[in-house]
Amino acid sequence: MSFNNIFDYARETDAILILQGNENSVDKTFFYLTGVDGGLFEGSALIVKPDEIKIITSTLEEETARKTGLEVMIANGKSDFERIIKDGLKSSNVVGLNYSSLTMEHYRELMRMIPDKEFIDVSGSIMESRRMKSPEELQRIREAARIGSEAFENVSHKLKEGMTESELSSLIAYEMMKLGASEPSFSTIVAFGENASMPHYSPGNRKLKKNEFVLIDFGARYRRYCSDITRTVVFGRANDEQREMYNIVLKAQAEGMKKIRENVNGKDVDLAARKVIDDSKYKGRFIHSLGHGLGMDVHDHPALSANLDFPLKENMVVTVEPGIYLPKVGGVRIEDDVIVKKDGYELISTAPRELLEIS
Ligand code: GLY
Ligand code: MN
Repeated sequence: MSFNNIFDYARETDAILILQGNENSVDKTFFYLTGVDGGLFEGSALIVKPDEIKIITSTLEEETARKTGLEVMIANGKSDFERIIKDGLKSSNVVGLNYSSLTMEHYRELMRMIPDKEFIDVSGSIMESRRMKSPEELQRIREAARIGSEAFENVSHKLKEGMTESELSSLIAYEMMKLGASEPSFSTIVAFGENASMPHYSPGNRKLKKNEFVLIDFGARYRRYCSDITRTVVFGRANDEQREMYNIVLKAQAEGMKKIRENVNGKDVDLAARKVIDDSKYKGRFIHSLGHGLGMDVHDHPALSANLDFPLKENMVVTVEPGIYLPKVGGVRIEDDVIVKKDGYELISTAPRELLEIS
């Protein structure tokens, strides 16, 4: 999508090789650089140079690859694939590789295939480039957030006593795909009652009861880009304790968001939100970082974390998701997605944030 700016960060090389493994070792950088919407591209490769990009793939993905308008080379088997790679890199002594995604197996293959090259790690440069979103990427993320927000509003009216967490999770997926998502951006978390105390809970057969918290953490994937939203509602009437927990989390989120703007340290955003919870009777019960970047990965760069010294820049996209978790009792999390601006932020997830009591 914006291949030449990678070389603004990776100045030590004039050729980057991106190798795709199987579906478990896919490098999303392949999709980032080509902009291809579909396909798996297992076993494919990219050769990226400051002024050109070549897709090397098989006939299986040829039609999809050609839609990009980029140069496509079709490899007929392993030896042909090797020949094309060697030929494509013949004028470069130093080859940049994405170490954070390349498997050890592929690395060894490359040492055998092109033993005369020096390899350098350009994963940091790729990350630098990927965390600053282009206008096209921002549009896709906005659309993913719009789909997620609307899907939540549609599904929130469908809560029923006795329905299971898995049932609700499938309704969210259905709504998001009906609204244009290609798929959920991650496995939806639906936690009823006490199960909401586990931030990464996996939904199961627990049935919904009256007057308990329902935590739904979900996101849409739209043209490969993700949203990630959490809403916690009460099915029935909220009691004082539920209302208090909810309002503290809501205030923590507001205090965090108030800080967001270009050049503010992500750590200070986390600390501003955390202070609200740590000044309450729920001190210590906000047990994860405030947020994370959002892009092709749900957990993209940068994080908003007390442990990370990192200044935010315009056009980064981050989640803001404080929570309170009480083991065996339950939990509340509110998560929204924002684009960092010079003087603040753009809120792109628009589902209602006040406490909803749904009957
Ligand atoms: N949506 C799950 C998480 O951000 O960890
Ligand atoms: Mn999240």
